[in-house]
Amino acid sequence: MSSSKQEDNVEEEEQAFLPPSPPRGDAAWTRDGRSRSVTWYLRLALEIGMAVIIIVLLVNPVYERIGPERSPVPRFPRKTYTFLPDPQYVRDDMLFDEHDTLHTLHNWIPLSADARGYVQIPDYGAYDILGDPYTVAINRTSDGPAYMMSVFHQLHCLSYIVDHFQQGYAGTELTEEVAHHSAHCIDYLRQSIMCAADTNLEGKTEAGPGWGSKHECADYDAVLAWANEHSTMKWRNGLMPGEAIL
Ligand SMILES: *[C@@H]1O[C@H](CO)[C@@H](O)[C@H](O)[C@H]1NC(C)=O
Repeated sequence: MSSSKQEDNVEEEEQAFLPPSPPRGDAAWTRDGRSRSVTWYLRLALEIGMAVIIIVLLVNPVYERIGPERSPVPRFPRKTYTFLPDPQYVRDDMLFDEHDTLHTLHNWIPLSADARGYVQIPDYGAYDILGDPYTVAINRTSDGPAYMMSVFHQLHCLSYIVDHFQQGYAGTELTEEVAHHSAHCIDYLRQSIMCAADTNLEGKTEAGPGWGSKHECADYDAVLAWANEHSTMKWRNGLMPGEAIL
């Protein structure tokens, strides 16, 4: 494109968007009569059409970001994982012994976020999908609004069930608290599994049922990183294995 043509275009655009000014505006358009005014209407229609398209394009992403059902949590990148038994997190003989069970569950701690899943969303009022926040310690001196990220609540529930399943088999009598907490976790995990709806397809493999197949999942490192960036006060350090439940 030649530079003079570019200048012409720039001038045309300026004219299109500037309000008509007395020296050249209306007078110039009406002088040439009818065909000029038809052109003017066509041009106006075209400009209105373009303006509508621009507004739609501008508003759409904003709506998607803060619309009624949008979350402040981003969509995480996807990553392929192969499901395999991992003795670091579940040893197949750990349930024979409470100490073994708790030691193994202790290794789950790095799977959870710094604040065990509580994240700060300072502008929570901007998101219709969010209910009322919890109030938790956000640092040593202040409490503030926070939400629990479901994946970490789910890990908590599973580790709670593992711990108490082991105790039950070891002969510990079921208390009302454990009965209710376990039932809560079982129904919570049922709905969590259905919500996450992992629809990856598993094939027959050497590793056994459910194992050895690839799953496309949220990149868990990215999930953890986001939760840690937004975490409330770090959970207390120095947990002993006996208190290592998430
Ligand atoms: C704790 O958080 C509050 C609220 O964000 C802030 O005003 C205060 O300075 C923080 N205190 C410390 C010790 O970081």
